[in-house]
Amino acid sequence: AESFEVLGPADPVAAVAGEDVVLPCYLKPNISAVDLSIEWLRVHTEDPVVHLYQDHEDRNEKQIPSYRGRTSLFPEELRKGNTSLKVKNVRGSDNGEYKCFIQAGDWYDDSSINVHIKAVGTHPVISNEGYKEGGISLVCESKGWYPQPQVVWMDSEGHSLPAGHTETHTDSMDLFTVRRRIIVQETETNRFTCRVQQQQINEMKETKTNIPGEMFHRAHPWKVTFAVIFSLSVVGIIGCTILIHRFVKLRKKRGILASYCSHLWFYSC
Ligand SMILES: *[C@@H]1O[C@H](CO)[C@@H](O)[C@H](O)[C@H]1NC(C)=O
Ligand SMILES: *[C@@H]1O[C@H](CO)[C@@H](O)[C@H](O)[C@H]1NC(C)=O
Repeated sequence: AESFEVLGPADPVAAVAGEDVVLPCYLKPNISAVDLSIEWLRVHTEDPVVHLYQDHEDRNEKQIPSYRGRTSLFPEELRKGNTSLKVKNVRGSDNGEYKCFIQAGDWYDDSSINVHIKAVGTHPVISNEGYKEGGISLVCESKGWYPQPQVVWMDSEGHSLPAGHTETHTDSMDLFTVRRRIIVQETETNRFTCRVQQQQINEMKETKTNIPGEMFHRAHPWKVTFAVIFSLSVVGIIGCTILIHRFVKLRKKRGILASYCSHLWFYSC
């Protein structure tokens, strides 16, 4: 019986969603693996088969469905003890720990490999839903992230603003779509920023929006009513003052006229 060690990379393997990745694994000494059983597995999973090579052929009937058609060994490399696995068109769910398990009769060994999937999502799109719940409702959405990012709403000075909870969905590639709504009040600038950030992969995308001031005024009909009533009152008060003034002047003129007249009458008598 042969004895061997199974070796893999010390560091995690980084992979970009949508691209292909090679998960390294090889035998020491570099004996041929052609006649051995090579099993690639997910750790901490029920039915964990990612790829199985046995009796000189791939046996993928019990493979995890999400890996179907995406995995292969390197046939030319097997003779050199290289049992690395190629995974095509990487997706979010490929993230995590793998095991390369190799058996020859009674002898076996394995090696663990961590795969870190990375996907940088789209620039956030901000949609304005108009007046809602006492302010203007803005929704920020960004697609295609891995791992799951955070969504932060900020004012023009970069202070984070209280907002609703972040809704999260996964797409067909198991990447994250995030959405977060905020109700904003009028500020000096009416400028708001939605920032989507993923600290583990050190990526950030943000979008700014400017809301026209009149949207806030339209959002508060009572403000408009108050302004109209106020203007009418001012006009009314000014109008009345002028009228009273004229009336008083008229009264004075009449008084002067009346006394003049009475004098005239007196002397004529
Ligand atoms: C196996 O490794 C030795 C050195 O350790 C090297 O000389 C030899 O070419 C390798 N064999 C194959 C098939 O890669
Ligand atoms: C195994 O084969 C792959 C694919 O050709 C190659 O990228 C990798 O460097 C090989 N690993 C070793 C240890 O030879």
